[in-house]
Amino acid sequence: MLDLHVHLRGTMLPLKIEKLAARNGVRVPPDTLRARGYGWSDFTCFLKAYDLLTSVIVTARDLEEVAYDYLRSSASTGATYVEFMLSPPDLLRTGVPFEDQLSAISAARDQALELHGIDCRMIATAVRHLGPAPALNAARIAVARRNEILVGFGLTGDERKFAVSEFAEAFRIARSEGLLATAHAGEHLGAETVVEAIDKLGLTRVGHGVRAAESEAVLRQLADNRIPLEVCLSSNLSLGLYKNLADHPIRRLREAGCRIVLGTDDPPFFETGIAGEYSKATEALRLHEAGRAITDDAIDAAFCDDATKARLRCVHARDKSPYACPDDPLIR
Ligand code: ADE
Ligand code: ZN
Repeated sequence: MLDLHVHLRGTMLPLKIEKLAARNGVRVPPDTLRARGYGWSDFTCFLKAYDLLTSVIVTARDLEEVAYDYLRSSASTGATYVEFMLSPPDLLRTGVPFEDQLSAISAARDQALELHGIDCRMIATAVRHLGPAPALNAARIAVARRNEILVGFGLTGDERKFAVSEFAEAFRIARSEGLLATAHAGEHLGAETVVEAIDKLGLTRVGHGVRAAESEAVLRQLADNRIPLEVCLSSNLSLGLYKNLADHPIRRLREAGCRIVLGTDDPPFFETGIAGEYSKATEALRLHEAGRAITDDAIDAAFCDDATKARLRCVHARDKSPYACPDDPLIR
């Protein structure tokens, strides 16, 4: 299982938030921590709750712990690879240079790979509702320090704010330095915005993109161009995009020829994990071996290097048959 859409700071369970809040002297309302999914009511409230709860992460050590915790717990459910989104300026504000943020996540990765056989990469992100100037800043920070763990550039936040074209320059800078691009689109706005984001930002993948299902022309374009959609079922249901799994368009998207990969988005906020997303997808697709097909597509769609993809293919091939793996001590 691969988790290709997860906000690193959005992975914290209540105990971790409490621990970091105490360590860093940040106050978080106990009621919020105790509420199911942290108790928000719509997307705007979700973003507020997210900002409040994630403010407990202050240092590079905090970031390393949060990344390691998520990798360890995902691996315990069978995950092998995660791509984390993180906005560089968030921890710059608390005095952690981006270089140190990347080193912290690299350290978590090394430990998780050695102890639990799970790998990860990073996607630096800009936050759409903060506007194009901070996005440019985020792109410049991302490309200033290269680290093998950093493979992508993304756009998160409220897609209802600012025209997508206003972020084109930030994405141009990131892509010109070899980062692959993804952006949240077609989650809160309609099908045409998916195409617009792909065209204006040069996307390799789309975050969510599920509302593409509302247009035959957009579906055809996604299928023809083989652009994967990072579908996050629990997130879509929690945020009220669809009433229930039967109403979710994942099956329609797949049957139209779109490539589907899965993500958890902000797992405790949406009361999920990657195993839960795979089982929901299998149920919704009503497809024998859906998990296998999604994993194959996810390995192709991952932003990592070919050697890592080969290792993942090898690990997952062992799920179904004896397979001649390269001599890799991490494959057990
Ligand atoms: N930032 C953190 N989580 C997010 C989400 N689910 N959608 C958009 N922006 C986010
Ligand atoms: Zn997201």
